[in-house]
Amino acid sequence: MKNFLELVKARYSSRAYSDRKVEPEKVEYLLECARLAPSAVNLQPWHFIVIEGADMRSKLAECYKREWLREAPLYIVVCADKAQSWKRRKDGHDHADIDAAIAIEHICLAATEQGLGSCWVCNFDAELCSQVLNLEGELYPVAIIPVGYATDEPTEKRRKALEEIVSRM
Ligand SMILES: Cc1cc2nc3c(=O)[nH]c(=O)nc-3n(C[C@H](O)[C@H](O)[C@H](O)COP(=O)(O)O)c2cc1C
Repeated sequence: MKNFLELVKARYSSRAYSDRKVEPEKVEYLLECARLAPSAVNLQPWHFIVIEGADMRSKLAECYKREWLREAPLYIVVCADKAQSWKRRKDGHDHADIDAAIAIEHICLAATEQGLGSCWVCNFDAELCSQVLNLEGELYPVAIIPVGYATDEPTEKRRKALEEIVSRM
C-alpha cells in the first residue's frame, strides 16, 4: 500500500494502453472514489459517463484525434452541470469546474492505486463531445479520462520548486 505522496508520485499521464479490459469491479471502485469527492455546498454537480463499447469509443475519439487515445479500452467522461453548481454570492463565480476537477483527480489517483493508467484530456472538441453524448441543458463535458492498462512508463516529474510557488506570511 502506497502512502499518499507515493501515490501522487506514481500517477502520471499515460498515453499508451494495452487492449486488456478493465475489470468491472475496478471501474466501480473508480466511480465510488469520484462519488465521494467533496464539492461546493455538497451540491455534487457532476455526471460520469462510462464508455466501453467500440462504437461509442470510436465516436468519442473523434473529439480528440490522437492515435493513443483510441488504444484505451475505456473512457470516463466527467461532466459538470451549471444548473446544479454553486455560484459564489458575492461575484457569481461558478464552482462547477472545480468540483468536477476534484472528482477527476480522485479517479486518476484511484486508477493509479489499482494499477491502471489514466490521463486528463481537456483539449478536445467539447461541442462535438456534447453532441456525441447527447448532453442537454447546462451539462457539459469537463474532461475525457482514458483508463486502462498502461504500456508506457512515467517520465520524470517536472515541477516548480516549492520555493517558487509557496509564500509564507
Ligand atoms: C486540466 C488538465 C488538462 C489536460 N489536458 C490534456 C490533454 O488534453 N491532452 C493530454 O495529452 N494531456 C492533458 N493533460 C495532462 C498534462 O499534460 C499532464 O498532467 C502534465 O503534463 C503533467 O504530467 P503528469 O500528469 O504525467 O504528471 C491535462 C492535465 C490537466 C490537469
